[in-house]
Amino acid sequence: MAQQVRGVVAPGKNEPVRVETVIVPDPGPGEAVVRVQACGVCHTDLHYKQGGINDDFPFLLGHEAAGVVESVGPDVTEVTPGDFVILNWRAVCGSCRACRRGRPWYCFDTHNATRKMTLEDGTELSAALGIGAFAEKTLVAAGQCTKVDPSVAPAVAGLLGCGVMAGIGAAVNTGAVGRGDTVAVIGCGGVGDAAIVGSRLAGAARIIAVDIDDRKLETARSMGATHTVNSSTTDPVEAVRELTGGFGADVVIEAVGRPETYRQAFYARDLAGTVVLVGVPTPDMKLELPLLDVFGRGGALKSSWYGDCLPSRDFPMLIDLHQQGRIDLGAFVTETIGLGDVEKAFARMHEGDVLRSVVVL
Ligand code: APR
Ligand code: ZN
Ligand code: ZN
Repeated sequence: MAQQVRGVVAPGKNEPVRVETVIVPDPGPGEAVVRVQACGVCHTDLHYKQGGINDDFPFLLGHEAAGVVESVGPDVTEVTPGDFVILNWRAVCGSCRACRRGRPWYCFDTHNATRKMTLEDGTELSAALGIGAFAEKTLVAAGQCTKVDPSVAPAVAGLLGCGVMAGIGAAVNTGAVGRGDTVAVIGCGGVGDAAIVGSRLAGAARIIAVDIDDRKLETARSMGATHTVNSSTTDPVEAVRELTGGFGADVVIEAVGRPETYRQAFYARDLAGTVVLVGVPTPDMKLELPLLDVFGRGGALKSSWYGDCLPSRDFPMLIDLHQQGRIDLGAFVTETIGLGDVEKAFARMHEGDVLRSVVVL
């Protein structure tokens, strides 16, 4: 039987979001209905609302979520009702070339639930990032659910569904930060701070945080940065070189998404160092680099997609590390809010004092 729940809907481009009644159908083959317990507010939700992603309005927002599987459709083997799960953007096929080569995050045949959630009048909703979890319940593909230790706070678990995983994975997976490395992180919002946590976890000896906002640098220090550089007053490339005997960092992680910070990341790396781009550029952005600098300095320029994570490996591992007190994912939860506060949380994003507002249900 289809169910009625409350959910946060973006009705049209730049219109304020509204809490609406959402109809959640029963799960079909390969699908699951999840009772959402927590869902973080991410920039991507704001981009959906602004029409920056596509125009398939109305959207059911929210995609950084954890909850309990309520029911599953026929033939579902991945999860069973009662499982505590973190949701991820897409289920992977497991059999395409990318999946077979151990790179499921580049799967050619990812999927979400095929049935649609609707408004009361039957209007189909587009689920943000194939999830739609600012809602009491949501319908997803069973393969989007990863089971983790249920004793963790849902507000913490949900974070791994997007930004925090992207940042930790940029350091640990994409950048392959190693014991004793020097890492520079440019841009210390939620993603950059998570990259700092990941670098520390990987055993980095020095972590240089770069931002234009002193408050962000203070938080970065509490997350594990050993040095800070305010790049509105100091040239960050010079500063990183100075701190590394004139060389540069072994791994530089860019978590802003602007050409000038991409450039800084490129020049702040040591010879043969790795640059990891996590900040998402807009389609019009270009980066021009002298080829001799690319060639002559060696190393690698990588982009990181969802932290190159394997949800089945990384979600349970990071939850375990958090439960053991070896990383503190709770530090990313600035405030917990209700479904009616998402619009306010969007406004607070620009004020710069929030890492994550998390809707708790
Ligand atoms: N140089 C250094 N830091 C900057 C600059 C700059 N020119 N411009 C902005 N910043 C800092 C901000 O002060 C802020 O601390 O970058 C940080 C960005 O943080 P958030 O806005 O909180 O964004 P976040 O959620 O961390 O995401 C960062 O990663 O995954 C991508 O789409 C995401 O592109 C975005 C980026
Ligand atoms: Zn997100
Ligand atoms: Zn695949």
